[in-house]
Amino acid sequence: MRTGTRPRNLIFGTMAVCALTAIAGISAREGFGMGGSASPQAATAAVTSTDPQTGLKEWGPALAMLERGRRIFRFDTFGDEAFWGGTLRLHEAIEGARFGGVGPGLSPAAALGVGLKVDAEALSASTLDAIRRGRVNLNDPAVTIALLDANAVVGVSAKRGRDGGLQSVGIQCALCHSTVDNSVAAGIGRRLDGWPNRDLNVGAIIALAPDLSAVAGLLQTDQATVRTVLASWGPGRFDAQLFLDGKAFRPDKKTAATLLPAAFGLAGVNLHTYTGWGGVAHWNAFVANLEMHGQGTFIDSRLNDPVRFPVAARAGFAEVRNDPDLTTSKLPALQFYQLSIPAPKPPRGSFDAEAARAGKAVFNGAAKCATCHVPPIFTEPGWNMHTAAEIGIDDFQSMRSPDERYRTTPLGGLFTRQKGGFYHDGRFPDLRAVVDHYNSAFSLNLTERQKRELIEYLKSL
Ligand code: HEC
Ligand code: HEC
Repeated sequence: MRTGTRPRNLIFGTMAVCALTAIAGISAREGFGMGGSASPQAATAAVTSTDPQTGLKEWGPALAMLERGRRIFRFDTFGDEAFWGGTLRLHEAIEGARFGGVGPGLSPAAALGVGLKVDAEALSASTLDAIRRGRVNLNDPAVTIALLDANAVVGVSAKRGRDGGLQSVGIQCALCHSTVDNSVAAGIGRRLDGWPNRDLNVGAIIALAPDLSAVAGLLQTDQATVRTVLASWGPGRFDAQLFLDGKAFRPDKKTAATLLPAAFGLAGVNLHTYTGWGGVAHWNAFVANLEMHGQGTFIDSRLNDPVRFPVAARAGFAEVRNDPDLTTSKLPALQFYQLSIPAPKPPRGSFDAEAARAGKAVFNGAAKCATCHVPPIFTEPGWNMHTAAEIGIDDFQSMRSPDERYRTTPLGGLFTRQKGGFYHDGRFPDLRAVVDHYNSAFSLNLTERQKRELIEYLKSL
């Protein structure tokens, strides 16, 4: 797809590389790199031998599959560079005109500003030290390129061309479904796989791309409209259904984008996504092919419906096949890894433990929450779907899905997703609003005390 190669001077490119290593005070060879984590080969070798804790040899293959799944979740692009780099030319906006791209380039400060995260474990101790002491120029796009070289930008990878500038860029699952613990600085720390990145402004990131004609073509609109829609999402949101039904706004004119959900605590849960599109394996194939634009195979005849899913039907999303197929062989390990990620426990002191204990009884009893959110998976063991009327809300989003229902959200690790609000579209700004909603929708007549206890219990999950 890529046309019009930019003339670039090899010497300029080399000089640029030297300049940026000097700026960051690091050497591209030694300082940056996959610091901290062992090589994939070494990791696989280690886990295929006897498991040190159980002494069981037979866990070897399972552990190797987990490790492989984690690597795919964090680092695999499924060949989606052809889209993000080749078609949208996003890398040109990241590097900026100085390195042969377009515009001012994306400085680390700007990258952090749109919610991108930096994996501290991919950086050397000296680099981290320089960051802590403010010796790294976070306003220089060259530093962003150096971070990409080190594979340190969570969920984004870029390839260098021979001329020193970026050749392409790709995205990974970790982009939306991971964050960091901010242990080095805001936005810089250890990876937290499965935590939704509610700071991430996906719309703003896509809008950096100089050429959105492919997206406009898919939606049969113009680029200006696409940019308006992207700007309407805001942080922590993405609209996976836009590319199926072309609906960008709800009837009340608010964005149709949903919040980025957690990708932890999913084991034992039947259907996934807010509207229960399928199991983890279905959705992973869906996202890798239709949203990330990886090159693989995806088959779902429900999308062959020109009335409900006009965009998908037009684009032939009901049956996508690429040769080579870079997604299907990864689905088993990717699913296995996701199911293995537990919901994180809330930090000590983040809730009132005594009130939470009382709240548990309210949850299971007077408030009837456990009729749907069955502990400890906090969704129905079985078919976990409800009509909009059953939970007392409108059906705009549920009607955008094949089953026309909402899926009971598993409630583990709620504390990781307070930013952006609750329910698929964040309509309830906090847990108090959620509880008030159920109290009136189900005429529960909860006392103030019961409500408070219930909220403390939710915070403890
Ligand atoms: C651009 C952001 C983005 C990327 C990249 C992304 N997802 Fe998602 N993911 C979402 C959004 C938004 C939803 C909710 C969609 C919905 O419910 O309609 C979602 C839903 C999910 C769910 C369902 C969670 C639940 O509550 O049941 C899983 C599992 C998941 N994604 C895994 C992945 C995997 C694996 C990848 C990589 C192949 C990936 N996602 C890539 C944004 C993203
Ligand atoms: C009839 C089944 C049902 C009952 C009863 C029920 N819920 Fe829910 N719950 C759901 C569904 C379905 C959703 C997803 C709604 C959405 O995303 O729009 C949900 C979502 C939630 C969420 C938002 C989670 C998130 O990450 O956005 C919270 C919190 C919650 N419920 C708490 C409760 C509490 C507390 C009670 C009891 C007062 C309760 N639920 C009773 C079905 C139920």
